[in-house]
Amino acid sequence: MPSPLPSEKAFVPFVSVENMMRLVHHIGLETLLAELTDVIEADFRRWELFDKTPRVASHSREGVIELMPTSDGEIYSFKYVNGHPKNMAQGLQTVTAFGLLAEVSTGYPVLLTEMTLLTALRTAATSAMAARHLAPKGARTMAMIGNGAQAEFQALAMKAVCGIDRIRLYDIDPLATAKMVRNLSGAGLTVTACTSSQSAIEGADIITTCTADKQYATILTDNMIGAGVHINAIGGDCPGKTELHCDILLRAHTFVEYPPQTRIEGEIQQMEPDYPVTELWKVITGQAQGRRDISQITLFDSVGFAIEDFSALRYVRDRLKGTGLYQDLDIIADPDDPRDLFGMLQRARQA
Ligand SMILES: NC(=O)c1ccc[n+]([C@@H]2O[C@H](COP(=O)([O-])OP(=O)(O)OC[C@H]3O[C@@H](n4cnc5c(N)ncnc54)[C@H](O)[C@@H]3O)[C@@H](O)[C@H]2O)c1
Repeated sequence: MPSPLPSEKAFVPFVSVENMMRLVHHIGLETLLAELTDVIEADFRRWELFDKTPRVASHSREGVIELMPTSDGEIYSFKYVNGHPKNMAQGLQTVTAFGLLAEVSTGYPVLLTEMTLLTALRTAATSAMAARHLAPKGARTMAMIGNGAQAEFQALAMKAVCGIDRIRLYDIDPLATAKMVRNLSGAGLTVTACTSSQSAIEGADIITTCTADKQYATILTDNMIGAGVHINAIGGDCPGKTELHCDILLRAHTFVEYPPQTRIEGEIQQMEPDYPVTELWKVITGQAQGRRDISQITLFDSVGFAIEDFSALRYVRDRLKGTGLYQDLDIIADPDDPRDLFGMLQRARQA
């Protein structure tokens, strides 16, 4: 008897790193960042619909490996992601990721994709989404402290979505800053390399901190923060790993993704459990106030939440159509007779 053919559902579209890069260039990086910002914002508007849980983290001395699941009742997603600050010294990425979308009605996967690039894109888009609701009106200058893998994406999303056109850079490693200056040449941004974080934040309307260190670091102290600034704190995203002095949190109004996760992982892990925060989705839906006035210090205490990955995966699936930028992977065993998994295996031996 000939081997039965698996159904169409058994083949899962897979987007490799190579195809993800082609897709980004096919769409255009800044167009993609702007579109993805809108897709994430659309999902934040439906926040209450989603299954939400703090991510499942497995910590070690060197770093963390996390699983980030969510579902809107029709589609389910998860991301596998790590954070290993010491990897860079060995020539490895600090953050790598891949992820999956599945249909809730059958549980069958519908997309498997690289997510290292996609995480940098969605993190930048989420920063831009928060900044467009919280940054001072007419903001043009951003300080970028930490010039590693995420940094250029942050700069370009702030340009595409919020109109930032001047970037002031600082990293403890001047080679990282030199790389970022090189990468942003011709991007339509005025880029200034600085030799301290103090000098990088001069005149900045937005301060983005995006450093990687597995400790309580103090990238910004309270005396550095002037009235009216928006702080976009990306790098403090793990227990025992923060970037801001706690006195800043006493002066700032803090906005978060999902409080049960941010209280474990964000800058606010330094504060009492009842430290007041505003959920970003409530600002987006008009249920809570964003920036109150020009002198308020706003802080987006970003840790990265599963719904942002869900949005990014959904966006990739939609934008993939008609491009051919994927391979069909045979990863679901799908016998003609669903109860005859064993028979399918037997027939494979005879074939
Ligand atoms: N919030 C989120 O959604 C989210 C998403 C992705 C990554 N992250 C976090 O963002 C951080 C940056 O990620 P990456 O992939 O760019 O890491 P990376 O290792 O590529 O870059 C980090 C940079 O920070 C610099 N740095 C370290 N300590 C510093 C200091 N005291 N002052 C100035 N610069 C300093 C390093 O020299 C390096 O260039 C990581 O901590 C990562 O976990 C957060």
